[in-house]
Amino acid sequence: MKSIDEIRAEIENYKIENAEALEQFRLNFLSKKSELQSMFGEIKSIAPENRKNFGQMLNELKNKAQQRFEEQRTKMEAAACSRSNIADVTRPSANVPVGAMHPISIMMNQVRRIFEDIGFTAVTGPDIEDDWHVFTALNFAEEHPARDMQDTFFVELHPDVLLRTHTSSLQVRTMEKQQPPIRVICPGRVFRNEAITSRAHCIFHQVEGLYVAENVSFADMKQTLLYFAQRMFGPDVKIRLRPSYFPFTEPSAEMDISCYICGGEGCNLCKHTGWVEILGCGMVDPNVLENCGIDSKKYSGFAFGLGIERMTMLKYTTNDIRLYFENDVRFLQQFKAATR
Ligand code: DAH
Repeated sequence: MKSIDEIRAEIENYKIENAEALEQFRLNFLSKKSELQSMFGEIKSIAPENRKNFGQMLNELKNKAQQRFEEQRTKMEAAACSRSNIADVTRPSANVPVGAMHPISIMMNQVRRIFEDIGFTAVTGPDIEDDWHVFTALNFAEEHPARDMQDTFFVELHPDVLLRTHTSSLQVRTMEKQQPPIRVICPGRVFRNEAITSRAHCIFHQVEGLYVAENVSFADMKQTLLYFAQRMFGPDVKIRLRPSYFPFTEPSAEMDISCYICGGEGCNLCKHTGWVEILGCGMVDPNVLENCGIDSKKYSGFAFGLGIERMTMLKYTTNDIRLYFENDVRFLQQFKAATR
């Protein structure tokens, strides 16, 4: 029969590397038929004075074997569990689709950023407006065609309530609340009762600008808009102001930029003129200042309004405004690189 010491050494050194070895260990040392268990049957043949000692040693061995068995079993279970449940951190990641910002939002943010950098603050206001803020305060004559049902969506229940046709209404809202100096830009959605074509839509976006203070001149306006055009379309861009008419500005102008595609040579984008129109502008009409409670003898100002869709179409050379409202992901995904 093996000595107690031999069995102890076997228990301690038994290699248990897999489930089979663990089972073998159990059979060798813990099962009823194992050598160790059968030694318990030998106790009665030991001299009585040694029995207690012998029994204690056997128990000690049995406990040792039991303990090793439990330890190894727990370790193996933990290892099996971690292999199946914990991610392999070296595995390539799944292809998660990443969204892009809508081109209209990208352009809005760009315009906003350019003006915020020179001290303009963005303000917003309601899409659903009243006649005063959209037309009357802005010096539109009673019979001005822009009030016509052809252009404006009126709310049926109330003839005074309408969807704003331009963000110029925010000039009025700002000046009614605040005395000069005023330097705001007003991004927003506008609505017009127009047939939807590749060039026009019944919903689009504008950014309005307003600067009112003492001694604001046409030259200030020109320089501010040149700065804007060059930051938006590149440092070599030139601007040109053409006389125009808006009820709320006097004098009024339309601003063109030199065609940044052909550099002024003439191409399809500029219809071979070398220039593309980008915004309307002018010196705020004194009537408008007075309508909003601002002293037109003391203060002067300039205003401008630009269409975001038009700006986006120019900058990203797309030729159909409807693309911006259809939201086809194949179109939108192309703006991933421009998303910031
Ligand atoms: N409100 C004009 C429009 O919707 C754009 C505009 C022109 C705004 C001249 C202005 C301006 O502030 O001065 O067509």
